[in-house]
Amino acid sequence: MSSSPRDLLAIYPGSFDPVTLGHEDIARRTLRLADRLLIVVAETATHSKNPLFSVEERLALLREVFDGNDRVECGSFSGLLMDFARERKAHCIIRGLRAVSDFEYEFQMAQMNRELWPEVETVFLTPDAPLSFLSASLVREVAAMGGDVSSFVSPTVMRALKEKLSE
Ligand code: PNS
Repeated sequence: MSSSPRDLLAIYPGSFDPVTLGHEDIARRTLRLADRLLIVVAETATHSKNPLFSVEERLALLREVFDGNDRVECGSFSGLLMDFARERKAHCIIRGLRAVSDFEYEFQMAQMNRELWPEVETVFLTPDAPLSFLSASLVREVAAMGGDVSSFVSPTVMRALKEKLSE
């Protein structure tokens, strides 16, 4: 079987408030499947949460964390993910799936997104087992209460958390 070169573009959307080692793990795994990865902060998240970092700050952290990887681009988008994916001619959407509890929300979004733009596949990747309980919201909560989250985020994010929480 001959293989033809294909420039496969994956979009990894999320709130990334802030980017965790779990997100980094999913991004690394995606690069085993896709040629290029576009990591994007959603300005309009489906489950609106109380954000700690602004969209600009989250994007700056992502850029710092993935700096030097020329197959990764970071950005942000507003409006529907599927409109953005269509504009960027993406082949797939990446979502990390940690536990059964993630499944219902992810399944609903994947099905709705397919209705909106059927040309893009949602691909679920599971993180490394030690990161499978990790969420950005837990990182925010634990850090806000003075707990040590240095095993769950990069030193860049650790610094930003300390700075933000001392404001
Ligand atoms: O990290 P999150 O908060 O779970 O990510 C959710 C996200 C950003 C992927 C989702 O809220 C989203 O796609 N928002 C963009 C608006 C949109 O397309 N909504 C319809 C989803 S079916």
